[in-house]
Amino acid sequence: MDYTKRMDALRSQIDRDLQTLCRDKEPSSLYEPMQYLFDSGGKRIRPLLLILSCEAVGGAVRDCLDAALAVELLHTFTLVHDDMMDHDDLRRGHETVHRKWDEATAILTGDGLVTLAYQTLLKTTHLQIQEILKSFTDGLLVLCEGQAMDKEFEDRSGISLDDYNRMIYQKTGKLIEVSCEIGAILGDASAKEKTALKEFGKNLGLAFQIQDDMLDILSHESVLGKPIGSDLVENKKTYLTVHFYTNGSASQIDRFNACIHKKVLEPEDIQVIRDIYEETGTLESSRQCIQNLISEALRHLEGIKPNESGEHLKQFSLQLRDRVS
Ligand code: IPE
Ligand code: IPE
Ligand code: MG
Ligand code: MG
Ligand code: MG
Repeated sequence: MDYTKRMDALRSQIDRDLQTLCRDKEPSSLYEPMQYLFDSGGKRIRPLLLILSCEAVGGAVRDCLDAALAVELLHTFTLVHDDMMDHDDLRRGHETVHRKWDEATAILTGDGLVTLAYQTLLKTTHLQIQEILKSFTDGLLVLCEGQAMDKEFEDRSGISLDDYNRMIYQKTGKLIEVSCEIGAILGDASAKEKTALKEFGKNLGLAFQIQDDMLDILSHESVLGKPIGSDLVENKKTYLTVHFYTNGSASQIDRFNACIHKKVLEPEDIQVIRDIYEETGTLESSRQCIQNLISEALRHLEGIKPNESGEHLKQFSLQLRDRVS
């Protein structure tokens, strides 16, 4: 089937299944915010990667749909808590849960989503369910460790590119890797195929976070559905800031600092920062790094026997590299 049609069909399937989870459930203070999240969209990249990975090694959608929903539910939970941790008011073009309701609601909605993720994953019947549960659970702890590092780095200077790479692998790369790995297991992949898909997911996940860091400053709120410049206001360590502080001149760093030490960044400040990043080669370096990671991801895909879903994984990777939201 044509790539676009196939991806649209899978996205619709995922969305339809998410819609069944909260229907007629009480209390509404728990299920209304969950429903609100399911209705607010999202790219669904983790479940799509899981399904395509399963099919790429010969598995079928019906064998991996519950696991695919589970990774999306887990991801949705991390977003709700991440927005509280990052003090963000907008997600997927809508008010964040802690803003629309309150922090207690956001904490509990997150708790409910993790539980729902496990409940959904446990519907999976496969001989290797133990291995799947281990990958999912270990992955979640790694993600929490990454989020802890992300917060710790806010108060630290001198973060190296190695520190940064470790942190983004943990907070973002790991769940993408786990999605591909679980898809591979459910498709009865050989050990070699499983490693290939895991490595593919890891490299794609790293590229995905660096792209996310770039969009924080290059995109527009109406397109991205998230606030622009939020990373700078929160003093996050991103690929851009790590590269800039290592390579910028003293005067560029002074100009930059004068812009970012504010509660809210005005559009003029954002433009100044974009210009400085251009001057220091920071944007070019980020793009190159993303390209290298995508090439590495695709190289690992060559480790599996070609079929249509493998080809779709490749196209999806290129689409994610070029994404604007
Ligand atoms: C956002 O993930 C959090 C990161 C890991 C960068 P996505 O960009 O996949 O968020 P949605 O699901 O599409 O909203
Ligand atoms: C997100 O990193 C990682 C997780 C949600 C686990 P970010 O904080 O950069 O994600 P966004 O930009 O808010 O989506
Ligand atoms: Mg965030
Ligand atoms: Mg964050
Ligand atoms: Mg971000």
